[in-house]
Amino acid sequence: MAAKATNKAKTVYVCSECGNESPKWAGQCAACGAWNSYFEEIQQPEKPLPAMVADPLKRATPKRLREISAENELRQTTGISELDRVLGGGIVKGSLILVSGEPGIGKSTILLQMCMKMRDMRILYVSGEESPRQIKLRADRVGEYPENLFILPETDIAAVVARTEEMVPDLLVVDSIQTKYREDMTSAPGSVPQVRECTSELMRLAKANEIPTFVVSHVNKEGAIAGPKVMEHMVDAVLYFEGERSSDHRILRAIKNRFGSTNEIGVFEMTDRGLREVTNPSELFLLDKPENVSGISTICVMEGTRPIIAEVQTLVSKTPFPSPRRTTVGFDYQRLNLILAVLERRCGLFFGTTDVYVNVIGGLRLDEPAADLGVAVAMVSAMKDFVIPEKTLFIGELGLAGEIRAVSGIEKRINEAASLGFTRCVIPARNRPKGNFPLEIIPAYSLKDVLNKL
Ligand code: TYD
Ligand code: MG
Repeated sequence: MAAKATNKAKTVYVCSECGNESPKWAGQCAACGAWNSYFEEIQQPEKPLPAMVADPLKRATPKRLREISAENELRQTTGISELDRVLGGGIVKGSLILVSGEPGIGKSTILLQMCMKMRDMRILYVSGEESPRQIKLRADRVGEYPENLFILPETDIAAVVARTEEMVPDLLVVDSIQTKYREDMTSAPGSVPQVRECTSELMRLAKANEIPTFVVSHVNKEGAIAGPKVMEHMVDAVLYFEGERSSDHRILRAIKNRFGSTNEIGVFEMTDRGLREVTNPSELFLLDKPENVSGISTICVMEGTRPIIAEVQTLVSKTPFPSPRRTTVGFDYQRLNLILAVLERRCGLFFGTTDVYVNVIGGLRLDEPAADLGVAVAMVSAMKDFVIPEKTLFIGELGLAGEIRAVSGIEKRINEAASLGFTRCVIPARNRPKGNFPLEIIPAYSLKDVLNKL
């Protein structure tokens, strides 16, 4: 039942971070805690709806499951294998894919490069950010012009839809959603209502004409997708492009994917000729590993189906303050506290008067418990100031009893280590890897056991 219709326009305040609505303005959003994020939105009263009767011509008819063709699922490759990997094997027809990330991270670059590689497709690239001339200058840097790539400078969403329906391209790119607007709405481009409306307009367009569509969305510094969660649930896939300003590495990951897993990552390097795919990320992450320094270990995590070796750096320093500092970059804070508690209770090492810093090199984020052992060992190395032997890899999840627990995909991890010239691999004793490996395998039963062997 529709609520009783009022006949006056109503003012509400909408949080631009999370979309929460409030009848009154407030400095801080009650739902997500963001400051200064409420914007005024005028809501027109809804007209009472007539009784629902579906147009017989537009009615869908039920189909037998086995008679439904799955041809739509055929995937189109993007020409960039790291991007294909994150998408789950390529682009699904009619899907709407959100590409988000901080300004300047490389969203426009990767999409332009993709367009230039998909040479057999008719592609419409709608830009509200750069002029066609700027796009051409960028295209000059990254590759050769394809025949069928069309650039449309347009910010009015109705015009975008009209042009797309006219042209019926094989692929549509909209850069960015924050520059698009509906003329008949009062709120500014980039505001929650505009972003919501423009996204649903693009959704309709993509589904009705089966045009796969990439939409760029900027993210603010807090990491929430601007215009934000509202978009996330509407689209088929959300790709997040991240990296540090100071480094050239870029990591693309799927946060949501209706057509594939969200575990895979794509790794790129920003060069003066656009983004370069990094097919062996482990090599990149180990490139500048310092030698003969304490507090550094190497670990191996699975990112989807791919093992990636990375470097963990830790620093432990005495503090005069009663509550010591714990800082992590790329590693879970709670997990760090757990490891510290295990080190204290099971190995008798006290970190109560020291600050602890953990940093994972290369902008990688370790979400997998298999990194525990390496982090623990690095912290002990930092505390006691001894160097962990070169070419040694640590794999294992830490249990609260101080035991080393088995991890999945052990053979893949060991093979990755071997291919990068590691000579020793400390693995959970319970993991019994099958096969012969050209490196020494050291089974670990407990953290104490590993520390004794070092
Ligand atoms: P861009 O794709 O415009 O970022 P976004 O669309 O996410 O805002 O990336 C711009 C940055 O990348 C800019 O700082 C310049 C740099 N860049 C290169 O270093 N090399 C290149 O070949 C290109 C095209 C961009
Ligand atoms: Mg851009």
